[in-house]
Amino acid sequence: MQNFVFQNPTKIIFGTNTIKHIGEETAAFGNKALLVSGKNSSRKSGVYDQVQQSLKASGLAVIEHSGVRSNPVLNHVHEGIQLAKNNKVEVIVAVGGGSVVDSAKAISAGACAEHDVWKFFIGKKSVKKALPLTCVLTLAASGSEMNSGMVITNEEKKQKFGFANKLLYPMVSILDPTVTYTVPPDYTSYGAVDAIAHVLEYYFTTEDSHTPVQDRFMEGLVINAMESCDQALKNPNDYQGRANLMWSATLALNGLTGAGLGKVGFPMHMIEHSLSAFYDIAHGAGLSVVIPGWMKWKMQTDPTKFVQFAERVFHIVTGSDSEKAAAGIAHLEKWFQKINSPTSLSEADIPEKDIQKIAENAVELGKIWRMRKYDAQTIEEILALCK
Ligand code: NZQ
Ligand code: ZN
Repeated sequence: MQNFVFQNPTKIIFGTNTIKHIGEETAAFGNKALLVSGKNSSRKSGVYDQVQQSLKASGLAVIEHSGVRSNPVLNHVHEGIQLAKNNKVEVIVAVGGGSVVDSAKAISAGACAEHDVWKFFIGKKSVKKALPLTCVLTLAASGSEMNSGMVITNEEKKQKFGFANKLLYPMVSILDPTVTYTVPPDYTSYGAVDAIAHVLEYYFTTEDSHTPVQDRFMEGLVINAMESCDQALKNPNDYQGRANLMWSATLALNGLTGAGLGKVGFPMHMIEHSLSAFYDIAHGAGLSVVIPGWMKWKMQTDPTKFVQFAERVFHIVTGSDSEKAAAGIAHLEKWFQKINSPTSLSEADIPEKDIQKIAENAVELGKIWRMRKYDAQTIEEILALCK
């Protein structure tokens, strides 16, 4: 167990019929709000109107900024920042999935900066001030609703970069599992993969081999994410399934799993972000391509944790250590296939000939994330295991 400080300022309001609280919760931070939303799902489901009514009923003036796309882009963030500045908004409200919450975070930081918000993403500037943010989450996946991170794609530079800053935690996030009933099967699956990936990044990259509290918490989150995803795929309106998936995804990346692990890395995400930057593949789908390959690569030098993972998550008890470790990875890969999330570059229509270009792109993010041991050659080796 390593020293740690754990502090998470986000107030979570969880359960059915909770959207109505967004107005009073947001009014605590100002009278004029920028309402950031996606393409059309929240309008189609009626969630958007509920949010707008609640904001207006609490006396807030609302400026709308819709059209955030999945794998959100810098240009759209720039437009939101301009809107926020021109209208002197005092608070940002996000209604949508991780792409919308991330865009809203970038806008809240950019609205208080004189320079291009992209400077935060390339480590040239740090956030000194940000507008308060509240959110109504509509998709269980990223964990953005309860963390200080965000990921934006600079389309010109083909870079999908992310950073975190403690000023960018949402002040309040409303999680009503019933709003995820309309999430289609593919994004239900991709969301579960993303949540599982967030756990595995910590679980397999910590250098501390004595973390029983964190290990069992993380193993439980992986098991719950898989079981609740299966339930939600079987019946999209299964409240317990949707609720457990939503809360597992939030807990998977709100800082709790990492508390006490010491230094960790995010190698699978570092590589996946290049896939999404180049091919606009859904984040979770890109991860299910990368995860098995990275695990096979890592297991070669460091099998211990993979044996524990196989034994505790998939109850694999027979065979040698290396057989158990390999079986655990195979079980996870098989589950990805069962939920129709791609498990190879070819399945995701990503040409093998692009492996070098992807590796060179990922190295740039690795430098910002201080993961220098992942040079282009190492990343190419890992991607060769994802073919
Ligand atoms: O745009 P709309 O019409 O809303 O459609 C969205 C989008 O097409 C749809 N959707 C969302 N809620 C829905 C719904 N459809 C039906 N019913 C609903 N209730 O789903 C699609 C995907 O939405 P998106 O927000 O892109 O998905 P997700 O929540 O997985 O977010 C992905 C983004 O999160 C970033 C990823 O990089 C990616 O850009 N991440 C953010 C992190 C963070 N802030 O900590 C960490 C993660 O690792 C991840 O990188
Ligand atoms: Zn992720």
